[in-house]
Amino acid sequence: MRDTQRQRLVLILIMTGAAFVVVFLAIFLLYQTAFEEEKARLIESAQSQARLMEAVARFDSVYSYNYPEGTEAATLSQFIEAHKRFKGFGVTGEFILAKRVGDKIKFLLSHRHASLMVPDSIPFDSPLGEPIRRALNGESGIMVGPDYRNIVTLAAYEPIEHLPLALVAKIDLAEIRAPFYKTGLLAVTVGAGVIGASIVLFWRFSNPMVEEITRSREQLRQFSNRLQAIREEEQTRIARAVHDELGQALTALKLEITCLQDELDPDNPEHQQSSETVSRLIDQTIAAVQRISTELRPHLLDVFGLAEAMRSQVQEIQKRTDIEFDLKELDQQVKLDPERATALFRIFQETLTNIVRHAQASRVSIRLKREKDHVMMEVQDNGIGIRKQQIKRPQSLGLLGIRERVLVWQGTVHFHGVPGQGTTVTVKLPVNST
Ligand SMILES: Nc1ncnc2c1ncn2[C@@H]1O[C@H](COP(=O)(O)OP(=O)(O)OP(=O)(O)O)[C@@H](O)[C@H]1O
Ligand SMILES: [Mg+2]
Repeated sequence: MRDTQRQRLVLILIMTGAAFVVVFLAIFLLYQTAFEEEKARLIESAQSQARLMEAVARFDSVYSYNYPEGTEAATLSQFIEAHKRFKGFGVTGEFILAKRVGDKIKFLLSHRHASLMVPDSIPFDSPLGEPIRRALNGESGIMVGPDYRNIVTLAAYEPIEHLPLALVAKIDLAEIRAPFYKTGLLAVTVGAGVIGASIVLFWRFSNPMVEEITRSREQLRQFSNRLQAIREEEQTRIARAVHDELGQALTALKLEITCLQDELDPDNPEHQQSSETVSRLIDQTIAAVQRISTELRPHLLDVFGLAEAMRSQVQEIQKRTDIEFDLKELDQQVKLDPERATALFRIFQETLTNIVRHAQASRVSIRLKREKDHVMMEVQDNGIGIRKQQIKRPQSLGLLGIRERVLVWQGTVHFHGVPGQGTTVTVKLPVNST
């Protein structure tokens, strides 16, 4: 249950993170687009103003020769006059017209940020007014940089040909960014509210579902454990009945036949042959009864304990296969209560069956020992190696059965396969847990 809650929390965190990333990305992309548009607008304004001035200057140089201070002054005065009637664009956008006078930059227009006064000249090599300095150096372009007030602006700069002037169209960066900050804040606030409400709803609706799933999973587990326990009891009962009753009856039969053989005519070969056949059949049936009862419930497990039952299981397999078994680390002293011993033994049986059926191994080493408060059983083969997908596959019912048996006792099981090198199954079962 706690695991499921942690998983749900992680899921919520991932979804919240993803929602915020999407919002930030959307706002950032919109900002980028707006920024590019603003750049294009400023470049267009600066260039059109500069070209206009150049055209007016060309006109004045031909027709305004009688202006008292000269044709250049005539052009300038027209622009200063025009700008007096132009408040600028946006809240902070404006044009700057400047001229280099010695080692100073002299501003020619009254600017909105200097209370409509013409700002003071600044030294040509001052860090302020970088855009206008570039334009006065004959460069044309756009940049982010400090203006004459040392405020960061986006500024398009353009030299004016044939005049010692340069022009800048600029707007404060803060003005471009402001609406996006506002929208971002709004989106984050509203988004946090919506996400918060969704989390509450998600939690409310998914809680009963998760509880139901957890409950039914637990019920299924208990049901399967119960079935297994019943099956084990049933098998023990049948094994005992088969072994004791059939076994005893057959032994009695065998004795009777032996007595009967003494009574038979020793010179009649037919009698001899029949009695030997019956006797052999009885022996075979006794062996079959023993095999069946051992398969149902290994007698050794109850009498001599786990290690001995494991050893006898290995001997059974050795009769049918060429696999070499190493039992050196099988500790005979390991003592376990009957339920745990049965669980470990059934796990061992399934593991060996898997080796015979799937591993293509030639060698298997088995360890069983007591480690502090648990018993450790390890079966290692040198076969093809189990693959990760096979361990996790829902169809792997044999492995699932092993896991379930281990879970009942709060133990652990670990399947580890290396392709071409083999498989190791390690089971640890606490000795004192309930
Ligand atoms: N020792 C092993 N070496 C290599 N592959 C293995 C080994 N043990 C299991 N496997 C692989 O893992 C799969 C799952 O094993 P599992 O015991 O769950 O199913 P199974 O043996 O195929 O069927 P069953 O339900 O009868 O046990 C097997 O089909 C086999 O491919
Ligand atoms: Mg199997």
